[in-house]
Amino acid sequence: MKNAIILAAGKGSRMNSSINKVMHNVVDKPLIGHLVEKLEQLHVDEINVVVGFQHEQIEEYLQDRVKYSYQMTPLGTADAVKQVQSLRDKKGKTIILVGDAPLIQAETIKTMFEAAESSDLVLLSAQVKDAAHYGRVVRDSYGEIVSIIEFVDASEEQKSIKEINTGIMVVDNQLLFEYIDKIKNDNHKQEYYITDLVSLFHKDGYHTTAIKLSDPVEAMGINDRIQLSWANQWLQSKINEQWMMAGVTLINPSQTYISIDATLEADVTIYPNVIIKGKTHIKTGATILSNSWIEDSEIGQYSTIDASKIKDSIVKDYVTVGPFSHLRMNTVIEDHVRIGNFNEFKKTHVQKDSRIAHLSYLGDSEIGADVNIGCGVVTVNYDGVNKYKTIVEEGAFIGSNCNLIAPIRVGAHAVVAAGSTISQDVNEDDMVIERAPLIIKNGKGLKYLKKEGK
Ligand code: UD1
Ligand code: CA
Repeated sequence: MKNAIILAAGKGSRMNSSINKVMHNVVDKPLIGHLVEKLEQLHVDEINVVVGFQHEQIEEYLQDRVKYSYQMTPLGTADAVKQVQSLRDKKGKTIILVGDAPLIQAETIKTMFEAAESSDLVLLSAQVKDAAHYGRVVRDSYGEIVSIIEFVDASEEQKSIKEINTGIMVVDNQLLFEYIDKIKNDNHKQEYYITDLVSLFHKDGYHTTAIKLSDPVEAMGINDRIQLSWANQWLQSKINEQWMMAGVTLINPSQTYISIDATLEADVTIYPNVIIKGKTHIKTGATILSNSWIEDSEIGQYSTIDASKIKDSIVKDYVTVGPFSHLRMNTVIEDHVRIGNFNEFKKTHVQKDSRIAHLSYLGDSEIGADVNIGCGVVTVNYDGVNKYKTIVEEGAFIGSNCNLIAPIRVGAHAVVAAGSTISQDVNEDDMVIERAPLIIKNGKGLKYLKKEGK
């Protein structure tokens, strides 16, 4: 059996935030989400999160993906582990993770579990230049691990040790709960340290080994917004490199933001300052130009998105969008549609080969194939209480600056003349014109401009 305990009951006061520390995002996902996801990938049997301060926020996000234990007063990391009653009598190995170190890779966790097959306790350590305030790994003259000493409790000599404790360890579960009650708080902070397991084990002849990280950033703890930004940069560049290796062109990877859940096909090109969020999928040959924001959407083959925002929508193949358009709420754009500048689409389905070149609002609409929507067409879909549907059938032509007052249907191959406000269905093949009569006053324009009076 493989179990996991994630410690997340602390206050995280250096974030200066009303949001729980582990609920802050790194690459579009809360810190704790990264950890839980990796444990799920590795099919860990039980994931138990120790929560306390602002526990509601964590519970609301993770729901029943994990079990919860409660530590309402943070008396130290060992005291936190002690609260995990559900694991007390279980066999197997347990990984203890700190909720504020989300960058640990699944491969590292896997290696630690493997090493735990032949060791009672496996620490994740790192050799660093600046050991800062991390706990130090103390070894004897044979190189055996003897104890972990916290920075505040360390002597000057111990402070000079460059091998640090990342706070992540795998322990034999039965030994863990046998020894957790033996840990005392006779230290500088008067806290119960989980790290004291190491010296207790050593005294009783149990064996501790360490896996040393090649890249210490992987175990970086996030305590403030500066470290949050470093973690974000580190993980983003890892994700971006992975996509470049898979055949995606990133013109400037340091200015490209791709969520960890997004997927891209080979020969996608992404210009600088693009944000790809959520579970977006971008197909081969697509080009995403600068200043686009694409969230939980799909972009089809060889389509081009230019400086536009697309959310919860599907754009199929050979489509062009933008510059400066906004597609949202289940909008679907079929192949070869051309959407130009300054358009907003909401809950709208556009069939293939249609053109909406400029300045339109289409809401709750069904637009047929090969339709031309002129400049400045507005579907008037809302009467202040309810929303209504607009249907424009295949091959219809809607002239510039028309208002289509929904509910309304414009039949196939019908023409709505420019400037019309229509509130009645139009039959197929017909033409409708709605215009106020034109009044001509000879010479009045010049007089008006020269203010020569009436
Ligand atoms: C801990 C380690 C230290 C290691 C460092 C790495 C101990 C005693 N020390 O120190 O050796 O170098 O991590 O980042 O374990 N937490 C609780 N309940 C508590 C106390 C803490 O849930 O009573 C949680 C916190 O929310 C946090 C994690 O445990 O997610 C680590 O606690 P923190 O106080 O940040 O430990 P460090 O001092 O960083
Ligand atoms: Ca910490």
